[in-house]
Amino acid sequence: MFLASVTPSPLLMGFLSVLPTIFFSCALVSALPFSELIYPNFTGSYLQFIDTSGAFLLSRNGTYKAAICNPDAQKINFYLCVIHVASNTMVWSANRNHPFSEAGKVNLTSKGITVVDETGDEVWSALPTQSSVNALLLSEMGNLVLVDQANISLWESFQYPTDTIVIGQRLPVGMTISSAVSASDLSTSDYRLGLTSSDVILQWHGQTYWKLSMDTSAYTNSGYTVEFMTINRTGLYLLGRNGSVVIQVALASADFRIAKLDTSGQFTVNSFSNGRWNQEFVGPSDSCRLPYVCGRIGQCLANSASSTPTCSCPSNFHLVSLNSNTCGPIDGSFVLFSACNSSNNGSQVDSSAASYLAIGYGYDYFSNDFSKPLNYGLNLSVCQEVCSGDCSCFGVFYENSSGSCYKIENKLGSFISSTDGDNDLLGYIKVVVAPSTNFDGNNNSGDQSQKFPVVALVLLPSTACCILFAIGFVWLRRWRISKFGEEKLGLPNSPSSEELDAFHIPGLPRRFDYKELEVATDKFKTHIGSGGFGAVYKGVLPDKTVVAVKKITNLGIQGKRDFCTEIAVIGNIHHVNLVKLKGFCAQGRVRLLVYEYMNHGSLDRILFGTGPVLEWQERFNIALGTARGLAYLHSGCEQKIIHCDIKPENILLHDDFQAKISDFGLSKLLSPEQSSLFTTMRGTRGYLAPEWLTSSAISEKTDVYSFGMVLLELVSGRKNCLLRTQSHSLDDDSSGSHSSSSSGSGLIYFPLFALEMHERGKYLELADPRLENRVTSQEVERLVQVALCCVHEEPSLRPNMVAVVGMLEGRIPFCQPRVESLNFLRFYGRRFTEDSIIGEENGSNNAILYSQANAFLTTVAGGSYRSVSYMSSQQVSGPR
Ligand SMILES: *[C@@H]1O[C@H](CO)[C@@H](O)[C@H](O)[C@H]1NC(C)=O
Ligand SMILES: *[C@@H]1O[C@H](CO)[C@@H](O)[C@H](O)[C@H]1NC(C)=O
Ligand SMILES: *[C@@H]1O[C@H](CO)[C@@H](O)[C@H](O)[C@H]1NC(C)=O
Ligand SMILES: *[C@@H]1O[C@H](CO)[C@@H](O)[C@H](O)[C@H]1NC(C)=O
Ligand SMILES: *[C@@H]1O[C@H](CO)[C@@H](O)[C@H](O)[C@H]1NC(C)=O
Repeated sequence: MFLASVTPSPLLMGFLSVLPTIFFSCALVSALPFSELIYPNFTGSYLQFIDTSGAFLLSRNGTYKAAICNPDAQKINFYLCVIHVASNTMVWSANRNHPFSEAGKVNLTSKGITVVDETGDEVWSALPTQSSVNALLLSEMGNLVLVDQANISLWESFQYPTDTIVIGQRLPVGMTISSAVSASDLSTSDYRLGLTSSDVILQWHGQTYWKLSMDTSAYTNSGYTVEFMTINRTGLYLLGRNGSVVIQVALASADFRIAKLDTSGQFTVNSFSNGRWNQEFVGPSDSCRLPYVCGRIGQCLANSASSTPTCSCPSNFHLVSLNSNTCGPIDGSFVLFSACNSSNNGSQVDSSAASYLAIGYGYDYFSNDFSKPLNYGLNLSVCQEVCSGDCSCFGVFYENSSGSCYKIENKLGSFISSTDGDNDLLGYIKVVVAPSTNFDGNNNSGDQSQKFPVVALVLLPSTACCILFAIGFVWLRRWRISKFGEEKLGLPNSPSSEELDAFHIPGLPRRFDYKELEVATDKFKTHIGSGGFGAVYKGVLPDKTVVAVKKITNLGIQGKRDFCTEIAVIGNIHHVNLVKLKGFCAQGRVRLLVYEYMNHGSLDRILFGTGPVLEWQERFNIALGTARGLAYLHSGCEQKIIHCDIKPENILLHDDFQAKISDFGLSKLLSPEQSSLFTTMRGTRGYLAPEWLTSSAISEKTDVYSFGMVLLELVSGRKNCLLRTQSHSLDDDSSGSHSSSSSGSGLIYFPLFALEMHERGKYLELADPRLENRVTSQEVERLVQVALCCVHEEPSLRPNMVAVVGMLEGRIPFCQPRVESLNFLRFYGRRFTEDSIIGEENGSNNAILYSQANAFLTTVAGGSYRSVSYMSSQQVSGPR
């Protein structure tokens, strides 16, 4: 692989000319694979490419290189990164949170890229599942792309931006970028930049501190909904539909520029020309507006003479930790790290023990401009009371003139020393008064709360007593931390935070207001069904789109964040055979999901209903559509999704009987009791695979089983488990009087009947009699064979959904059912008929099915599942 090449390629020459530090001869000897493409079974380490500073891939014209890099020339943290060659600037890194040492390796295989550390442990990977990787290429724009045989992109680094956007890259709505901790440590820090449907916003621990639209150089062009942010040679743009400009920041023409969220927390745009960087845009430009610029409770004073502000502590506070730049109360009380007493068993830190230490007038807080006050016209004590009862509240700002109350939420940042004379904001920090122990150190030095300019921070350590004091205090702080628990420190947004900013979770679909949906559904008037998780109502949005609004009642997830995380996953799944989630509403305890409306309702109503008969071709298309949708859930999206409840009720039909699967991805939204039920049985009886009952692993093959059952119902046009007497048009002699699938009691377990007819090769017997002669034996045979393969008892014998799609499309041979893995149907069928006789006496269909499932449970599991035998049929059919 590393044979010497005699004539270096022009590419290589070009590369060398911009990297004068590389010795020409060295490069000749190692003859690096410098090309825009590398192919699988490539392995590289930093040491292997040391002659090119780790570079192993160069874009066509040499603008970018991909390298194993060690930013800031340190020797500890190595990354797989993309570097702009001329400016030697890193624009992307793969493993920012998991650096490796110089012995780490980058591997490219047909599965994708993996990065392993010196022990061989994988620290990062990009493994697309759609098809196998043919090459890794670096585009002229700086996009690292995995392509397949047909040069179709399988994965792109542009879709996983770190802290930088380059020309040609788009940051879509809902996606965020995060700043790095420092120039040498690229791990994500607490500052985030996100794109909302109308703006760019910067946040720190879920609190907004800057918006692009407020910047004087940002020009708002139109009110369209923003789709993405991009930069090009003439500026920074937020673009909406069809490329319409929503907000623009016009910049001088430049050939190369990047937009970046700096380690400071500032959003900057810089251009590179004539060998130097030029800052063109920065937000917020006032660095005192940065949430943590002076550390916790630090006071930031803007300095007119320099861009570096002066930091000190407010009165009543003093410096308690030199290296972390933290101020603490001088009166011996202390600031809470987690605002609630979740873990400590001591009783000191409950909300009633909280008191408030004033930081006085003349301060402002970064989030006050961006958050609505909790309320107006309150008096101060009510404002503080609200904060005391709120776990995410660390203090308040109270505006005396209006009675407005602002929370300091999630984490305590720095205060802005306000020179604005009109400011009548009064800041208070929630503290807990020290328990009986006397903090002598504090009291002695209490009056030393002098302000310390930044310079003093450097000088302070020279004073021995200060060091001693600091050490003493750090020790005390540790002691308190261990006593009161600091586990919340550094965590983002506490779950109780009421206004969770949507952009924090990438890919969140549209957020609706409860009022909006109340109006759209005319106060939830038209009930169109009761799907899993709650009732469904029809609604019409102001733009005339008809929607189905699902009111989730069995909600387990309490936190809005967890809910939104799930919603973001579901909202990002788009496939013609999956019902699209258009939006959601999460207000208070209300959780609503807004889906596209399917005008033909669910498959069960049409297939088992009394309306017009579904024609064979329509059934076949429904089977194919459902199979495609499931195949996509199982292997088409980034995260494998097992549906767990495939049945006709969850297959909705749109125009031309296009099948769309609903209710996917919701399993995590169940409450804990329900999800423990879920782990044993979520599915619906009749479609439940045997492994549900034997506590074997649930996999995507569980869905394949349910799909097979649905396929049989499509063929027969009736429920698999049905009292024959209730079946509308089952031919008396078609069931075969000798078959064990039906007994004298007039019961039939269709899957067993299908197996028997398959064994005898009499497929036409299985077809829906209502279809009369509009179907051939051969067509039925194919579907029945696929169905039987899908219901094999042994999950590994069932085909996967991708194969099922192939069979239905006729691209791959139909599979042959394995009778030895279908014998369980005989047993199941016998239980069914026996138990049903008892049920018939009860006259309740549900009871039959319930006792059937129950008997099956206890028999199959040898009684070990007796504990579930009290479950009602309601429960057996999953959380409804
Ligand atoms: C890469 O290696 C694997 C396993 O050693 C092998 O199966 C595969 O054919 C190789 N691929 C190429 C393109 O050489
Ligand atoms: C894929 O792209 C590479 C480089 O751009 C090219 O050499 C190759 O011919 C392309 N292959 C196909 C199948 O288009
Ligand atoms: C940059 O993008 C804006 C918005 O799409 C467009 O109007 C402008 O012409 C672009 N500039 C260049 C140099 O392509
Ligand atoms: C603050 O308002 C509450 C309710 O409005 C009232 O009960 C309380 O007495 C007031 N406190 C003061 C100090 O005015
Ligand atoms: C708040 O304003 C009132 C008058 O509206 C004034 O009497 C009171 O002293 C002010 N409180 C503080 C703490 O400044």
